[in-house]
Amino acid sequence: MQKLIVQGGAKLRGELDLQGSKNSALPIMAAAYLCRGECILHNCPKLTDIYAASRILNYIGCKCSFADNTAVITSAQSGHTAIPEELMQEMRSSIIFLGALLGKNKTGTVSYPGGCELGSRPIDMHLSSFRKMGVDIKEKFGRITCSVRKSIHGAKISLPFPSVGATENIMLCAVLADGETVINNAAREPEIKDLADFLRCCGAKIKGDGESSIVIEGVKELHGCEYTVMSDRIAGATYLAAAAAAGGEIIIHKACVGCMEPFISLLDQTGCSIYTIDDGIYLRSGLRLKAVRDCIRTMPHPGFPTDAQAILMAALIKADGTSVFEENIFDCRYRHTDALVKMGADITVLGKTAVVKGVDRLYGARVEATDLRGGAAMVIAALIAEGKSEITSISHIDRGYEEIELCLQRLGADIKRE
Ligand code: UD1
Repeated sequence: MQKLIVQGGAKLRGELDLQGSKNSALPIMAAAYLCRGECILHNCPKLTDIYAASRILNYIGCKCSFADNTAVITSAQSGHTAIPEELMQEMRSSIIFLGALLGKNKTGTVSYPGGCELGSRPIDMHLSSFRKMGVDIKEKFGRITCSVRKSIHGAKISLPFPSVGATENIMLCAVLADGETVINNAAREPEIKDLADFLRCCGAKIKGDGESSIVIEGVKELHGCEYTVMSDRIAGATYLAAAAAAGGEIIIHKACVGCMEPFISLLDQTGCSIYTIDDGIYLRSGLRLKAVRDCIRTMPHPGFPTDAQAILMAALIKADGTSVFEENIFDCRYRHTDALVKMGADITVLGKTAVVKGVDRLYGARVEATDLRGGAAMVIAALIAEGKSEITSISHIDRGYEEIELCLQRLGADIKRE
């Protein structure tokens, strides 16, 4: 079992190229399955979730190879259309492959992606949307078997909540469906736009991505293309939060600055200096951070991202004053707070709300990563704690951060993997 050992107290200084986005690369890899010929995807992050997606692609008949952050995916004309439970369980977002299986083969069998560390993660919106498009769905013993009597047809779908995964799944199914699909109340996350950009490069007809109504006109065929996955806005938020909390001066390159605005505008309230130029973000932090005066409410994009909630919280543990968080996306996303409290933080959680009273000192401790972003929050806390911390269960962190310890070492942190 690997762990991260962090000696707190170092300021962060230096420059970093941001990794490619996990949440973009995963649906784009699923989309490559829909294309005839070869897709070359640059800027794919080296992450366990990406390797899990490669295994699914290989199982369903693609040839997927991976070298130097480039994935080459050649979709086969035939292959399995049922994904075994073991592969489905390897990552939470495996459900995204159902839309791709249906889009291409008009049939597909998957399992529920499993219980999740963020609370229940239902897929009712995914399934009801597929039903509207003419898909027959049978559920038995945790397996979901989908078939189509005639054809998959376009439909007008109004999502009760702008779910990222449901929007992506509908897009994957609709690009090769008969006729027009309209997704109302669609997710507006930047990763949706990246998926649409990739699909357009492959010949899909999509309009409105990035807005609440997405219109997709089904086409007969998609072809391969060469594409560069967008950079990871949550990894970017993590390194900025770490430098803000630890003090120092860093520049992040290859950032999607516009996408990170909801995070940057709140981090700005802590008193550090942040400047953006093209795809670069400069941050300088010296004095004690100030608490964030506005309630930090997680909301669908362009609101404050739930994936950055734990990260910003960790940066505010030692801030001057009290910061208040409200988690509105997932019902169980404060599990990291126990570890932060163990390190000396003053955090009170009541339902959706967490109140963080800034403390003067934090102490190194042995803590266990509870989930991907919660684990990253523990790394940030360890960087600003006195003494040594050990973070275990770091497989959670490796799902989303490419060589987190090397990136932080490059910035001067005292961190190693054992
Ligand atoms: C994606 C991201 C995840 C991020 C989340 C919200 C990926 C791989 N993951 O997850 O990092 O935290 O968006 O920005 O891109 N819901 C339902 N029924 C459904 C679908 C969703 O009730 O059929 C609920 C969920 O339980 C949750 C909320 O909707 O409470 C948001 O979920 P969703 O936007 O779908 O998140 P994911 O796509 O799973």
